[in-house]
Amino acid sequence: MTADRRAEELLGRMTLKEKIGQLSQAGSTMTCTLPGFEADIETWVSEMLQGKLPKEELDRRLAMCKENLREDEIAAGELGNFVNLYEDEKIAAVQEVAVHKSRLGIPLFIGVDVIRGYRTMFPTPLALSCSWDMECVRIMAATAKREAYDGGVNWTFGPMLDIARDGRWGRIVESPGEDTYLACRIAKVQVEEFQREEEDGCRLMASAKHFIAYGAVSGGQDYNTVDLSQRQLFEVYLPPFRAAIEAGAGAVMSAFHDLNGVPCTMNRWLLTDILRKQMGFRGFVVSDAEAVKQCVTHGCAADEREAARLSLEAGGDMDMSSLDYAKYLEQLVQAGELEEAVIDEAARRILTKKFEFGLFDREYTYGRLRDGQPMLSEEHRRRSLEVGKRCAVLLKNDGILPIRSEVKKILIVGALAEDKQALLGPWAFTGSAEPVATIVGGMKKYAEEGTEVRYVRGFGADADCSGFEEACEAAGWADIVIAVAGEKEYMSGEAASRANLHLAGCQERFLDGLVRMHVPTVVVLINGRPLAVGCLQENPGIGAILEGWHLGTECGNAIAEILYGHYNPSGKLTVTFANEGGQEPMYYNHPNTGKPGSDFKFTSKYQDVPVRPLYPFGYGLSYTTFSYGEFLVEKERITREETLKCSVKVRNAGSCAGEETVQLYIRDVVASCARPVKELKRFEKILLQPGEEQEVRFELPAEEMGFYDCCCKYVVEPGEFRLYAGTDSENVLERTFYIV
Ligand code: GLC
Repeated sequence: MTADRRAEELLGRMTLKEKIGQLSQAGSTMTCTLPGFEADIETWVSEMLQGKLPKEELDRRLAMCKENLREDEIAAGELGNFVNLYEDEKIAAVQEVAVHKSRLGIPLFIGVDVIRGYRTMFPTPLALSCSWDMECVRIMAATAKREAYDGGVNWTFGPMLDIARDGRWGRIVESPGEDTYLACRIAKVQVEEFQREEEDGCRLMASAKHFIAYGAVSGGQDYNTVDLSQRQLFEVYLPPFRAAIEAGAGAVMSAFHDLNGVPCTMNRWLLTDILRKQMGFRGFVVSDAEAVKQCVTHGCAADEREAARLSLEAGGDMDMSSLDYAKYLEQLVQAGELEEAVIDEAARRILTKKFEFGLFDREYTYGRLRDGQPMLSEEHRRRSLEVGKRCAVLLKNDGILPIRSEVKKILIVGALAEDKQALLGPWAFTGSAEPVATIVGGMKKYAEEGTEVRYVRGFGADADCSGFEEACEAAGWADIVIAVAGEKEYMSGEAASRANLHLAGCQERFLDGLVRMHVPTVVVLINGRPLAVGCLQENPGIGAILEGWHLGTECGNAIAEILYGHYNPSGKLTVTFANEGGQEPMYYNHPNTGKPGSDFKFTSKYQDVPVRPLYPFGYGLSYTTFSYGEFLVEKERITREETLKCSVKVRNAGSCAGEETVQLYIRDVVASCARPVKELKRFEKILLQPGEEQEVRFELPAEEMGFYDCCCKYVVEPGEFRLYAGTDSENVLERTFYIV
């Protein structure tokens, strides 16, 4: 029997309370058992996430608390879905109650943020996008799926598909970057791989989040209002969700913010007219955490009772964590203010997905890891290492890298080099910092015979520069200094917007002083967002800058392999690096304006920073050099029904093998709406041996060169187009073609 038929049959046997239970999702609650210890867990977690409370202290306190897994509510059929349980035994415990102690034995959806790994952590999603390698994306999803499923998880709150153009927004670290086309490619691969069923039934239901345009919050300030034209919505922010839906995503998570004045959580136009009627989405919508309740705070519901009704009626099927559906839906039905049919439809959608994703067909999966592949296996760590190497981006190199074999005394400076939590990075709640490979460890592990690696803290991502003298003295010993700067794990991610994108604390001053020791210096950045590091780029004493992001469990080993030249860096930026935070949002695919920025006074620019970005979208250096040769367009005039075919020759003109991401952009020169100066339409990552040349061929249907016109209708307009092929969004070859 099909999943929807099985769901219909079950629905017919359920009480109103049990149906509402399927619309409710919650996490465990913690109460402190120690007398006189006022346990304000949320404050503790908030302090930890701001670096005010060490994680170890938080864990110590939580160990003294009693966790309520809500077994009674589950047994009564009043809670059908759980959120953010990270221990296998607890997941098993709640599932045991649901399946064997509730009246109907409906298994729980166990939803967790498995967005970059489960126990084995991969690079942050922004870092992963910088690999431009869909096989890396697939490997992450496959590995995360295996570990999460073995741990009892059956639903991931991912992929996160928010196009992010503003480095001030902390959640840019979780995003697929600033480009819609690349985000669509990533969305498809992640949803397909998360949901692809392995032979033993291993799979996770994916949920595209956060619907919609969360990355466009005003001022890059998290949770802030989003005011956006429909055209922008359709052209920039919707396509990755459409790609996820076309790939079969089982759920969509609505976003916290208000979209043009109406909270996404209760936005009927968004959740029903657009998502369901126009995009054809047939799964269910889950709110973000406590977002139903927040409709009151938004000022769009008089109280939580009304928030529950408005959210459900708008198309929000499941309430995450506010429990307002559980509290108020029954009484709303009894008062005749809400049709039970609305509850039935939401429950139907959720139950259909539970059947579709096999929750009823296999005894919940807990315990598999006891005899299956263990978590954090050598193989999984190897995968994380291989992926991590491909995500780092070489931003500057005067030739100091890779470290030459005659370099025998290496000094590493900077607390981040040893900071496992920082190297792991944000959104790693299901992982642990303990197994993380540090940069110090990695550099020692890969050091050649006779090479000595030393470490001094010197400085951190804070205001403590007390180690400056010690670092300068140690630098006097060294042949090369590796200075590790950037951000702590809590300085990006949720609720981590920053107005100032410079290196925090005394890092800039410290580095400026350190390089006056005239020892060849490399800076490795460990950070979640694009930073204003122009002072490093312009400093002649800094020979190289490697953007290391937060690469996860194998971070230190991946960076060491690159610094020693065991791997030739191939990452390319998927977000623009602005010169200053005040220049944000800054992105490559912007309209030309009537006065594009230039040295001429009356043009669009800031007086106090360069017009060009510090590093453009698509930028990334290699230890070799690539030269672009013949760039041919097969047919310069094509109809709207035809496909543009072109080719470009790329040669490895250097002395070592390397991977190059060849990028193809277009520009619609004249259209009824101002078009971006460039739009990424294709890319291909190729490996070239020294001296090797490859002809890269692209095919691009004219249909993909359209846009949403001022009436939000998708059109392909005839006219002149530019075609660009190159190594980033600025260094390109140019051709012209026409759609007739
Ligand atoms: C958070 C995030 C969302 C996450 C959810 C569950 O607030 O906004 O991305 O999936 O809560 O952890």
